[in-house]
Amino acid sequence: MKEKLLSLKELAMSSLKDCANSAHLEEFRLKYLSKKGELTSVLKSLKDVAPELRPAMGQLANEIKNTLQKEFNEFQDKLKKADIAKQLNEGGLDVTLPVANDMPGHLHPITQIQREIEDIFRGMGFMVFDGPQVEDEFHNFTALNIPDWHPARDSQDTFWLNDGNLLRSHTSSVQIRAMQQFTPPLRGIAPGRVFRNEAIDASHEACFYQVEGLYIDKNISVGNLIHTMKVMLREIFKKDVEVRLRPGFFPFVEPGFELDISCLICKGKGCSVCKQSGWVELCPCGLVHPNVLKHCNIDPDIWSGFAFGLGMDRLVMMRYGIDDIRHFHSGDLRFIRQF
Ligand code: DAH
Repeated sequence: MKEKLLSLKELAMSSLKDCANSAHLEEFRLKYLSKKGELTSVLKSLKDVAPELRPAMGQLANEIKNTLQKEFNEFQDKLKKADIAKQLNEGGLDVTLPVANDMPGHLHPITQIQREIEDIFRGMGFMVFDGPQVEDEFHNFTALNIPDWHPARDSQDTFWLNDGNLLRSHTSSVQIRAMQQFTPPLRGIAPGRVFRNEAIDASHEACFYQVEGLYIDKNISVGNLIHTMKVMLREIFKKDVEVRLRPGFFPFVEPGFELDISCLICKGKGCSVCKQSGWVELCPCGLVHPNVLKHCNIDPDIWSGFAFGLGMDRLVMMRYGIDDIRHFHSGDLRFIRQF
């Protein structure tokens, strides 16, 4: 049996050297290493060997099997490498090609517009501020000249926390933080998430997105505000957008305005989105109230400024003709993949 095993080994080793491709290699594996291979059949005849010789024969057979397996693995590796090298030489394999990916991810449309807005305002010399989503009463209300009795403080609109803090109901709180941190002149925007205890419908969400804008300098006028808004809208919509101002009341600005844009869906003719008026309310704004400046230790006799609060969800809806705000957080890939 010993001779049988040794000659089998010799035969196997020489036929391995003759293998030139993976088909040959597979033939080799079947012939020598598989369960139905020759080595196994020799092992089966172990029972006919004299009992005292069996352990030594068993050990030899195992050693041969391990050696063949090892040689086989090494040869297979070599063959694979040679194959890749050949493909590279022939130009058939470009390892710099991107890997095929059937489901690439992308940024949410609100994140996309946020980044665009940040770029536009950075181009005009604005900083980009960040502020906490869990706010205190001072930054969300008091410093913004919103007195105790103002309905905006009503618990129906604001999510109050047990410790007396709240989820910010607007990004205007970041105006205050910016004015506390920097000395004027200063200009910046603060994009972010805001929260309101709203009944949810096609145009209201409990969590939505705003960009606050603030510009403090000497002799700032409504003209500066309108110009800045028009530049931003032109950049976003890639064309001049007609705007109009209506009076609006917000405790932290005086005078305060509602900035409307001519409806981009019906081009101002009147449709269901603009409720047949031809105008869409886009951005409340105004000149910063002197009390707000005082709360931040800025002298209103020297400095003045404008502020605005843009609804980002509304802007994305206008841009793409989306008629229901609830799509944004629906997690529905059929919606999200369109952007
Ligand atoms: N914070 C206001 C809101 O969420 C929006 C707003 C109005 C912001 C006027 C402003 C502004 O900066 O000047 O309803």
